[in-house]
Amino acid sequence: FFTTGQTLWLFGYGSLIWKAEFPFHERRPAHIVGWARRFWQGSHDHRGTPEEPGRVATLVESPGAICQGMAYRIDADTLGPLDIREKNGYLRERVVLHFHDGSHAEGLIYLATEGNAAFLGDAPLEEMARQIATAHGPSGANRDYLLQLAEALEHLGAEDSHVFGLAARVRSIKEA
Ligand code: BEZ
Repeated sequence: FFTTGQTLWLFGYGSLIWKAEFPFHERRPAHIVGWARRFWQGSHDHRGTPEEPGRVATLVESPGAICQGMAYRIDADTLGPLDIREKNGYLRERVVLHFHDGSHAEGLIYLATEGNAAFLGDAPLEEMARQIATAHGPSGANRDYLLQLAEALEHLGAEDSHVFGLAARVRSIKEA
């Protein structure tokens, strides 16, 4: 599927939307169908600690759902150093990316499922908000990750009641 010299689309739905620390040829807002962004992945090494894990975005299958994000066209060789899968035990899936002009292309997503050791799954909104509002890790405050994602999605004109609902709750909780 990926041979040297080719480019491929990588779909970012979390921090990749606003922070791409890899070379890319172009980036385009896009959405995928049948997947929902959820703060169900635990983070004990970036936005939390083993004692107080944070929560970051993953994708869960959800028929009919739309997840808006940012697609990056990268050299296939760039995937190696990116190494998301190796580092976090993320799974890689092939999806169809829909661009705003109506065109589409095949692309890749990385996601964490319940098979991932750090996976937390669903919880009441209030509980998730409290956890995100207070967790900190080597990459910074968990609340900053959520609020930056909410801001990036607003910028894209994206709908996401899960993220915007969490962000509204977290803003009302005092910083730890
Ligand atoms: C993302 O932003 O799409 C992402 C970042 C890290 C791991 C998986 C996905």
